[in-house]
Amino acid sequence: MGTLIMCISSLLSFLPLLLLSIPTLIQWRFGPARHLQNSGPISYPMIGCLISFYKNRRRLLDWYTDMLSASPSQTILISRLGARRTIVTANPRNVEYILKTNFTNFPKGKPFTDILGDFLGNGIFNVDGDKWCHQRKLVVHQFNATSLRAYVEKVLKDEVEKKLLPVMESAAVGGRAVDLQELLRRFAFDLVCRVSLGYNPCCLEYDCLDARQPILEAFDTASDICARRGAAPLAAVWKIKRFMDYGSEKRLREAIGKIHLFVDDIVSEKKRKIMSCCEKGEERWDEMDLASKMVRDGMDDEFVRDTMISLIMAGRDTTSAAMTWLFYLLSCHPHVGNEMARELTAIQCGDDASGFERLKELRWLKACICESMRLFPPVAWDSKHAMSNDELPDGTKVRAGDRVTYFPYGMGRMKSLWGEDRFEFKPERWVSEVERGRVKALKNYGPYKFSVFQAGPRACPGKEMAFVQMKYVVASIMERFAIRPVIPDRPIFVPLLTAHMARGFKVLVSRR
Ligand code: HEM
Repeated sequence: MGTLIMCISSLLSFLPLLLLSIPTLIQWRFGPARHLQNSGPISYPMIGCLISFYKNRRRLLDWYTDMLSASPSQTILISRLGARRTIVTANPRNVEYILKTNFTNFPKGKPFTDILGDFLGNGIFNVDGDKWCHQRKLVVHQFNATSLRAYVEKVLKDEVEKKLLPVMESAAVGGRAVDLQELLRRFAFDLVCRVSLGYNPCCLEYDCLDARQPILEAFDTASDICARRGAAPLAAVWKIKRFMDYGSEKRLREAIGKIHLFVDDIVSEKKRKIMSCCEKGEERWDEMDLASKMVRDGMDDEFVRDTMISLIMAGRDTTSAAMTWLFYLLSCHPHVGNEMARELTAIQCGDDASGFERLKELRWLKACICESMRLFPPVAWDSKHAMSNDELPDGTKVRAGDRVTYFPYGMGRMKSLWGEDRFEFKPERWVSEVERGRVKALKNYGPYKFSVFQAGPRACPGKEMAFVQMKYVVASIMERFAIRPVIPDRPIFVPLLTAHMARGFKVLVSRR
């Protein structure tokens, strides 16, 4: 009798597991994406690929890239216990379909909003539909061609000449190693705050490079913890921690509080100034920033704040990450840097005092930036969520609710897209025409093969501004300084919300 009871109780203890496994078994046996079953990690009933996902959790980028290379259509299915079914693709036809052809069926979706909602609120990065459309118009208008020129003449030139170059000069004279990634991040933060908020937080000062910058740390903490939410093997864990206000979730709440305070203070001060300027009938440059325009148009405070936080996130780490990897790659390929120096000498400013027209001529430099981002894209992957059942151009069946991820990091490493030498840094692959030793035209690989700026209706509206900024900064540094990494080891690419170099990029700077 005792044995029977023991048997029954053992069976009962397995019952929840058996019940849990039924949906997974059904999916495994009859799931609509069955033709992808050999394209992706080994999956088991009930747990899916949880074991291999866990084993590869520290090298997800390369794990996905290897599987995508082996997949006949460069698309894989990741299905694991505790997480949403995810289709990852490096196939340009699929990417075009998701980002443009059937855009409305692939919004960011609630699962994305859940992860980033506490931090980004209703900011452009985190909304779909009408809310997105409204902010998109504001942002695109802000970054039109006329304002781009004004940006170079008034903000970029000023920040480079008064801040960045003096800091580089001090580093060259002082002879001590500086973290170039940190320096560029601070520079980009100051810049994007001036453009979006019309406020200069002055985070880049040579004397203060070692000093903590609480607002930068708050942004780092918030984006880091949100990215880890997205990559967590079990989403329930961070939700419970948030409910209990514990550990990383408590730190996230505190960091968001600091960020809100920072933006709110600036916006209130702006309101006060604008009101007083309006009373006196004055028009000033700093009213050209987006926050001022939104305040002047009477937009809601919370809406202004959310838009600002998204913009700061967009402009802050992306360009600095791209430039950091470019300087690293140049240090490994001196001949590419020599070619850049030749181009910079050959193309001078002439009457163009701000250098804006000159930037358009620096095509080898642009090829180097594109090639660097092909290998180390600032946004390594990006996901949408399917609204309804669908089928991608390669035949992959998508179910309503699936996460669909396009993957610029993997795309830059596909032999089918870039050939045998895909792992090599070769800016010449971007050059289409050379005349008397100068690059006259570049190839356009199209946004679905080179998807680092996303594509379609949600393509990055800051793309031109980013190129202008990166060209201006790299040219200004390369013309004056030589950069040598302190540790010649291969750095590690960390793909959080925006990718960066683990432990920074320590360099020695000397005058040319
Ligand atoms: C190398 C630099 C940059 C890269 C690689 C880049 C890439 C991207 C990518 C991949 C997205 C889509 C992200 C998503 O939907 O989750 C995006 C969106 C966006 N980017 Fe950029 N970006 C760069 C620089 C900038 C800059 C400098 C700004 C402006 C200051 C900017 C503003 C935006 C905005 C506002 C969005 C949201 C667009 C929307 O949802 O409609 N970006 N960017």
